[in-house]
Amino acid sequence: MLAIIGGTGLTNLPNLEITNKEVVRTPYGDPSGYLTYGRIGDATVVFLARHGYGHTLSPHEVNYRANIWALQSVGVTRVMAVNAVGGVAENMGPGVLAVPDQVIDYTCARKHTYFEGDSPVTHIDFTDPYCNRARLLYLAAAKAVGIDVLESGTLGVTQGPRLETRAEVARLARDGCAMVGMTTMPEASLARELDLSYATLALSMNHAAGLGSSSQGIKLADADAVLKVGMEKVKTILARAVELHSAMPASERGFKS
Ligand code: HPA
Repeated sequence: MLAIIGGTGLTNLPNLEITNKEVVRTPYGDPSGYLTYGRIGDATVVFLARHGYGHTLSPHEVNYRANIWALQSVGVTRVMAVNAVGGVAENMGPGVLAVPDQVIDYTCARKHTYFEGDSPVTHIDFTDPYCNRARLLYLAAAKAVGIDVLESGTLGVTQGPRLETRAEVARLARDGCAMVGMTTMPEASLARELDLSYATLALSMNHAAGLGSSSQGIKLADADAVLKVGMEKVKTILARAVELHSAMPASERGFKS
């Protein structure tokens, strides 16, 4: 089954015909909310709002372990995530969509692994943090609906919830980050630990701190307006991605490096 994890600006899917809702408990605590099951066209999908349905959980408060565990426990094989980000690279201005292919994790003190305590020491391969099949699915869906999406880019993940300083953004740029967000980690690595196919669609809602239209500070009202428009495009891409996913043979609906 396909799961969609919606982030800031995406707490529900209007084109999802809801069939039922399920509260799932996990050994790691409670997920951000109930799982919403439904149909988009002929496909069954499960939706989870990362920050809770009322957008009450900050990036550092999200129980990423419970979220990913809950999805896997109900039979999810692929997670299509959505992240709102700030643009660092020149081509990542407000409104631009991208399917990142790399991550730099600057977060700290988040519960980020299932492999601790009684579990054996385990190191996952994370050379390529996103499932390439899932990335290609996003790109194919965007192409099919005629929406421009950048095909790659490094997503730097900060701890938040505060936004970055100018110097931090300058460092992100030097490190090669094209965009900065707060929530793809540890989501992506937890998905890998459970062998799930995982990719994200990033929507730039502002120039990162100190850059372009944010040179004198980030204007949050402007960013919200960009988010609203951009999320409509995201929903269109997601609907097509769900269709394409359900047309794939079962052997291709899971992780592939
Ligand atoms: N920084 C970090 N996360 C974000 C930003 C940003 O500028 N915009 C949206 N999410």
